This record gives sequence, C-alpha cells and structure tokens, in this order.
Amino acid sequence: MPGGVSSPVRSFASVGGTPFFVKKGRGATVIDADGNRYVDFVMSYGPLVFGHAHGPILSAVRRALPRGTSYGAPTRGEVELAERVTKAFPSMEKVRFVSSGTEATMSAVRLARGATGRDLVLKFAGCYHGHADSFLVLAGSGVATLGIPGSPGVPASLAGLTLTARYNDLASVEALFAAHPKRIAVIAVEPVAANMGVVAPAPGFLEGLRAIANREGALLLFDEVITGFRVAKGGAQELYGVRADLTCLGKILGGGLPVGAYGGRSDLMARIAPDGPVYQAGTLSGNPLAMAAGKAMLDSLTPAVYAKLEKAAVELERGMNAAARKVGVEDRVVINRVGSILTPFFTAGPVLNFDDAKTSDLEAFRKWFHALLAGGVFVAPAQFEAMFVSTAHTPRDIAATVKAHETALRAAFGLTAGG
Ligand SMILES: Cc1ncc(COP(=O)(O)O)c(C=O)c1O
Repeated sequence: MPGGVSSPVRSFASVGGTPFFVKKGRGATVIDADGNRYVDFVMSYGPLVFGHAHGPILSAVRRALPRGTSYGAPTRGEVELAERVTKAFPSMEKVRFVSSGTEATMSAVRLARGATGRDLVLKFAGCYHGHADSFLVLAGSGVATLGIPGSPGVPASLAGLTLTARYNDLASVEALFAAHPKRIAVIAVEPVAANMGVVAPAPGFLEGLRAIANREGALLLFDEVITGFRVAKGGAQELYGVRADLTCLGKILGGGLPVGAYGGRSDLMARIAPDGPVYQAGTLSGNPLAMAAGKAMLDSLTPAVYAKLEKAAVELERGMNAAARKVGVEDRVVINRVGSILTPFFTAGPVLNFDDAKTSDLEAFRKWFHALLAGGVFVAPAQFEAMFVSTAHTPRDIAATVKAHETALRAAFGLTAGG
C-alpha cells in the first residue's frame, strides 16, 4: 500500500511520524491498536455528525444486512433517500446516487459539459473536488498538503481545460470569462471552502457567482460534499440562500458508508442516461446498506442537532482563542469557523483565499499537531483541512481539547509555561 494507507493524508506525510491504526471508534473517541484514546476531530473527514457508531445508523444497517448487500436492481431505499435529498435541497429536482464524492463531481462536470456543449471548467485555487482529472489543478486538501500543483497522469491537454480563479475574488472570475467568452461550461465551487482549511464565502461572493453564471450561460455547481447536511440541513444553499444548477453531495449523506450523489434541475438531469445521452453508471450505486445508513442519518438531522453542533463549535473556538491569548500568540493563529467546521491557521490572517492560507507556518502546525496528539486529541495531520465537531463532543471533550491546545501552542512556538 503506497504510504501504508488507502488515502494520502492519512499517512502523516506532511507532519512526519507514523499514523496510529484505529481499533474502534465510539462517540467522539477513537481508540488505537495500542489502546490509546483520542478525542477525534477528524470524524472520517466529515461524515460523522453524531460521532462514531451512532445507534440509529448501526441499527438501520443491521436491519438491512440480512436482506443482502447488493442487488443491481432498484430498491425502495433509494427512493426514500432521494425523497429526503430533494426535500432538503430544493434545487436538486432529480438526483443520481454514486459511491463517492469524487464520482459525484466527475459526473456532474461531464453533465455540465454535455448540457452546455462547452469544455472549460472554472474552479478555485485551493478548492478540492475529489481526484477526477479535471479537478487536479491547483487543488486543495491532500494535493495542497503534498504541494502538488497538478498531477502527473493528467494529460496537459485535459488540465488545460480547467481554469483557476481566486476564492472570494469575483474579479478573477470575470477575467476568466472575458478571456474565454462562451467557452466555460461550469463554475465549480465549494460554497464554504474546507480543503484549504475552512474559508467562508465573503458576503456577495456566491450571489456574484450566480449572477455571472446566469449572464454567461454557464452552470453553477456547488460541491456540497462537506457542507451538505453540515452547515445546515440544506447545506450552504440553505445557509446563504443561493441556488445552484448542480449540486454534489457525499460524506454525511452516507452516514459513514460510501455514498455520493449529484443532482440539479430536472432539464439538466434529463440528459443523464438512460433519459439522455450523458453516460454515467455504477455497479454498487444506490447500495442498500448505504441507503439505509443515509436514511437513518438524514432522519436524525433535526434543527436541535444544528443548535447543538453550533454550541459545541462556538465553545471550542472561544476556548482555543482564549488559550492563544493566554499563551500570547493570538496574533499568530487565526481560527476560521462556519458552523461545526473550523481551522486554526498558523498565520496572522485574515485567511480569505488559498494564497492567504499558504502563508501559514507549516512547521508550527507540525509541532502543534504532534503535541495535540500526545495530549490525546486527534486532528487532521495537515494545515489545509478542517476540524469536524460532532454532537458526541461533550463539554468535557471540548475542555480537554482546549487544554491540550494551550500546551500544543507552546510547543508550536517554542514557549515555556512561564511565558
Ligand atoms: C468538497 C469535496 N468534494 C469532493 C470530495 C471527494 O469526495 P470523496 O473523497 O468521497 O471522493 C471531497 C473529499 O474530501 C471534498 O471535500
């Protein structure tokens, strides 16, 4: 296994050291093979709103299991989950289930190209949309962490069809449309960026993208693989009141099992096979166990859940900021937070785009990460990721994390407890 892992960021490549192997997770805690316990803010990189091994999701999968694991034929579970998705996301008039976020974005871009008859894709530096060829250009997440601007294996002729603008900078978007009139099929965006670390959309940014797409005859694709069901039940579209033409979902949608989905306006989705000529298929798509887990997850997402997530995340943010002031480094670490996702950037800030994020002191981050881990707190081993708060994080977990953060900040900046 390259790097000993099934997905690069897990290898600790950017922070050094050896990753622990997980034995099990329960609530907000993961326990490693050596029996060490950690308060977990990785939360599988987003899916686990209720923490690990959430009862209703386990029960739903247990109920589905004796009926078989896959059929290659339609099931009621798909219809039930589709009804829930389209209710939460009114812009998704029709939805197609796939097995990962990557598959969702890859398919949605194919649809956008097929529907518009245009080839160019506009994305933003530092945004990550999975590892499909069209998106491996100035991408975020592990691609940013490993410092890979583009990936070998993506033909230059294909990478050349992906244009990159600056997040929160409408002028950079306008400039690309001016340079490539009537050639851009789709603006793909994380409506809250979470793969350059968390960066909120500036007021007017998403509305501006909507207006540009309308004017230019391009489609607006919201990649809500992280934000969907996270920042609100209806994702960033509900939170910010901007409607996308196409939406991609993953992570929370499957309750921790492999599921993705893409959907949007009926007239666009009518172009997908078998209704239309844009081809996309999947042997395990709509998998019955994943549909059962997703349905249990979505049915558990009540308004009270979002209130609880917000409260815990605010408490964490406040505590971490107070710790930074106590240590005297409040001008060297800035926390960006939207709902239950947050990132402490090791820079003075503000962090509004990928260029800002890249001013982070990665050596300080590395020391902070290891000190935090030694203090029993597990965060993503990379600066350009998010911390995910769940409803399973208790006030005690938050307090323990704030305490470990204070110690870790001293380690990060080489300070002793006396100052
Ligand atoms: C915004 C966004 N889009 C797409 C993806 C790709 O999803 P997956 O890893 O399920 O392929 C990710 C994964 O982190 C993501 O954060």
